[in-house]
Amino acid sequence: MRALTVIPMSANTAELSDVPEPPGSDGPILVETLTVGICGTDAEILGGDYGWAPPGKERLVLGHESLGRVLEAPDGSGFAKGDLVVGIVRRPDPVPCSNCAVLEWDFCRNGLYTERGIKQHDGYLSERYRITPEFLVKVDVSLGTLGVLLEPTSVVAKAWEQIDRIGTRAHWEPRTAVITGAGPIGLLAALMAVERGLETHVIDQVATGVKPDLVRALGARYHTGSIEDACPNPDAIVECTGVDSLVLDAMEHIGPSGVVCLTGVSSGGRSVRIDAGTLNRSIVLENQSVVGSVNANRRHYEVGAAVLAAADRSWLDRVVSRRVPLERWADALDRQEADVKVVVEVAAE
Ligand code: BGC
Repeated sequence: MRALTVIPMSANTAELSDVPEPPGSDGPILVETLTVGICGTDAEILGGDYGWAPPGKERLVLGHESLGRVLEAPDGSGFAKGDLVVGIVRRPDPVPCSNCAVLEWDFCRNGLYTERGIKQHDGYLSERYRITPEFLVKVDVSLGTLGVLLEPTSVVAKAWEQIDRIGTRAHWEPRTAVITGAGPIGLLAALMAVERGLETHVIDQVATGVKPDLVRALGARYHTGSIEDACPNPDAIVECTGVDSLVLDAMEHIGPSGVVCLTGVSSGGRSVRIDAGTLNRSIVLENQSVVGSVNANRRHYEVGAAVLAAADRSWLDRVVSRRVPLERWADALDRQEADVKVVVEVAAE
């Protein structure tokens, strides 16, 4: 079968390879891949900056944002032929650490977790894959291939869970939210903010085009300036860019008792000067919190599946802004102005 493979930490090595059928050891459920989303992590892996091949192998099958259709599932597995499904990305570490032991693998403490398509475990960008039921999640059949948005939605569901858990250390009645970045993660974070009844403000650099339209279509407000100008003292900020100036802006302008959740992975290597004393003073005197959030466990995928099932299909369809056939996978990486989420179509729906 065909798969998009790459030699991790080595730029420009991606190719459409002929690989063996998925091994039975991967699990009893056989899934036909329909669509795979491409994100910043994939771009980093393809650029030779991230990623690990499975032990003993040179190449890694790419792809962690998937949507597939079940081809074979044993009786009693909870899945049946034809189900639309998404594979979970992370696998618990083998030790396991105290968090992986209770299926909170997104909080793995020893770094020995694996991630499909990213870290030591082949991904989903192959014509078929095998999996065990505990790492497979069903999506509403009416979503069709829009179910490919589940993995990024699970990341956002975890971020909102972190904000709520921290908020509820005291009385928590948030009213306003700022989302920095109107890429797929920012838009999905805004979708969830609006769904929670929050007055939602999204900040991005571009002044026109599909991003402002998508934000306004949610009933949220779109801005191109600073957090302070957009919404002074918000209760929650979901930072989705990893841009150092925005990360600091978020920490400096979160409201009293507010929570900043950082989800953007920065590249690093740049220094900025900050008045750490003033920042610390405000965080202490106003009980503010800054929390990092990565990945997602099964609970977050389930919340994400419900969020997508309830969302406006035409809005989600505009988030999936470009579909590229598998043979032309390289086009997916060629960023175009109107891009939001670009996906590779592996098979017809
Ligand atoms: C994925 C996460 C993963 C992270 C780090 C992100 O792109 O969505 O599931 O944990 O990369 O590898």
